[in-house]
Amino acid sequence: MSHGKFITLEGVDGAGKSSHVEWIAERLRAQGHTLVVTREPGGTPLGEKLRDLLLSESMHLETETLLMFAARREHLAQLIVPALARGDWVLSDRFTDASFAYQGGGRGLAGQRISELENWVQQGLQPDMTFFFDLPVEIARQRLTASTANPDRFEKEDVAFFNRVRKAYQNRAEAFENRIKVIDSSKSIEQIRVILGKCLLSI
Ligand code: TMP
Repeated sequence: MSHGKFITLEGVDGAGKSSHVEWIAERLRAQGHTLVVTREPGGTPLGEKLRDLLLSESMHLETETLLMFAARREHLAQLIVPALARGDWVLSDRFTDASFAYQGGGRGLAGQRISELENWVQQGLQPDMTFFFDLPVEIARQRLTASTANPDRFEKEDVAFFNRVRKAYQNRAEAFENRIKVIDSSKSIEQIRVILGKCLLSI
């Protein structure tokens, strides 16, 4: 049986990725794929509990990173790897690029540390395609403020933090240009859907 494909969505908070999840899912189902839609941190009962902690409790940066990867290990074991092995496709709202962007770029943890955890937890498994929704941080923050009544621990960070997160995503998009497709989130939803649709046909 053929392996399914693994697609991830990334971007700074407020960059608009979540508004495209359902559309991408419908598109993939229309292409005939059985699809699992999930998110990080989260995606399993334990992962969702870790998500609650990660988004609310202050903690040491390395604790935060280890918990992100603990949730990811569970996510891979319980959901992602079995789904791909069955031939299902997996669409995840965030994955390891977010650890490089937030814990690495945003908070300053050495990329080498994150790579070590990535190798340990993923054993070489990488997304087949990643959409990075890119938007100037000032605009992303305006959208976030308009749509979020109770910001979580990450959403409360300042503009400088999100500029570092964005820069780290942009650097990764350059380093992995075949995998990471940069989506200009300042375009209209219709324009973005045309681009997404073309990319999805090319996987
Ligand atoms: P969400 O708001 O897109 O659901 O993501 C929750 C937050 O978790 C978001 O602010 C980014 C953050 N995050 C990390 O800092 N590192 C990670 O590895 C992941 C997956 C998410």
